[in-house]
Amino acid sequence: MKVLALALLALFVAHPARAIDAAEREAILLHGPWPPEATPDPSNRASGDPAAIALGQRLFFDVRLSRDLDRACASCHLPAQAYADGRPRGEGLRPLDRNTIALANLGGRRWYGWDGRSDSLWAQSLHPIVDERELAASGTLLRDRLEREHDAVFGPADDDEIFLVDIAKALAAWQETLVTPRSAFDDYRDALEAGDAAGMAAYPVAARRGLSLFVGRGQCATCHFGPSFSNGEFDSVGINYFLGPDGVDRGRHGGIAALLASPFNLLGRHNDDSARTTAAPTTHVALLHRNWGEFRVPSLRGVKATAPYMHDGSLATLAEVARHYSEIDLDRLHQDGQLTLQPLHLTEAEIADLVAFLETL
Ligand code: HEC
Ligand code: HEC
Repeated sequence: MKVLALALLALFVAHPARAIDAAEREAILLHGPWPPEATPDPSNRASGDPAAIALGQRLFFDVRLSRDLDRACASCHLPAQAYADGRPRGEGLRPLDRNTIALANLGGRRWYGWDGRSDSLWAQSLHPIVDERELAASGTLLRDRLEREHDAVFGPADDDEIFLVDIAKALAAWQETLVTPRSAFDDYRDALEAGDAAGMAAYPVAARRGLSLFVGRGQCATCHFGPSFSNGEFDSVGINYFLGPDGVDRGRHGGIAALLASPFNLLGRHNDDSARTTAAPTTHVALLHRNWGEFRVPSLRGVKATAPYMHDGSLATLAEVARHYSEIDLDRLHQDGQLTLQPLHLTEAEIADLVAFLETL
């Protein structure tokens, strides 16, 4: 009897906030450890190369990447704003349709962009250089301006297209080094794994309740899954994809079409991975009706700093995001899409808990 009482007491002391069952513990542990091990990108021979990383970092802030010498990557991806811009949608030479994505934890992904139009970080980095709405430059122009810097790292390029790709590969090599630091959630998760009661107790109680909602009744973790809080794929959560009189944002549907048509995808000549293992997902991608209006499941790491939210920047705060899921309009979801989402009808206190949790990422 005495032994049992002691064991119960020990259990209680280990979990002062509330008991955690084995399934919930397992679900929480899956969101780490953090940070992940840095592995070089085989499709990019500049990946991990210190000289290329230094060049990429300089060029990210360099207006010579723009046709009119008036803007750089950093004009939209501001270091002080987690490499996003705080605006609903990006603003270049002409307005963009989508929210600027905060740059972090970019290594080792299958797809880039809200619609996954790129299968490598370097192809995604090339896109704004030539896009008429963004930097509106070209390989020929860059070669005129940057040949010396380029050749010092890559040696001479055979043609302007290779030159352009090399510049994008240097930009990618630097962006791969942008990793969000360990968070309060990571400390809690590791304490849970280690059975460290004092470490667990340091995590705010409201965040702890929000975490239970996230992995439990809210079913958020079916899509926002793993150490980066994303399954890396695409889905629809009922955010409008009508752009107004000009038409619709096809989302993943347009992304797949653009990916397969691009000379810069991993099936093309610019992939440095001679074994072509990196190209496997691209080989298997297929255009499906359900891809209409699907967007990338965003990582939630550092999400506190990257308002406004969603592909169109239509939700201003994390509380608005929580409310959106709470009252989700099922008529706006695809009939042939996922069946996970149901209105959660959260109380205001639960919304506050969910936000408190998201802010610890
Ligand atoms: C005019 C604003 C603007 C400029 C300039 C710009 N970007 Fe972006 N960036 C965006 C927007 C908007 C998105 C989301 C685009 C989409 O998915 O349709 C984005 C997305 C990205 C992504 C995808 C991140 C992810 O998680 O998938 C990367 C990488 C990126 N930009 C790098 C760059 C680089 C490198 C440059 C400079 C060569 C650059 N950007 C210039 C606005 C800009
Ligand atoms: C069916 C998959 C799915 C589920 C379940 C899901 N999400 Fe999402 N989440 C997405 C997708 C897809 C987007 C981007 C949608 C868009 O922009 O159109 C998103 C966007 C977000 C964003 C905005 C991030 C940003 O950078 O813009 C947050 C925050 C978020 N979800 C939190 C949650 C929470 C909290 C839950 C549970 C209540 C949840 N999600 C459930 C797929 C999902």
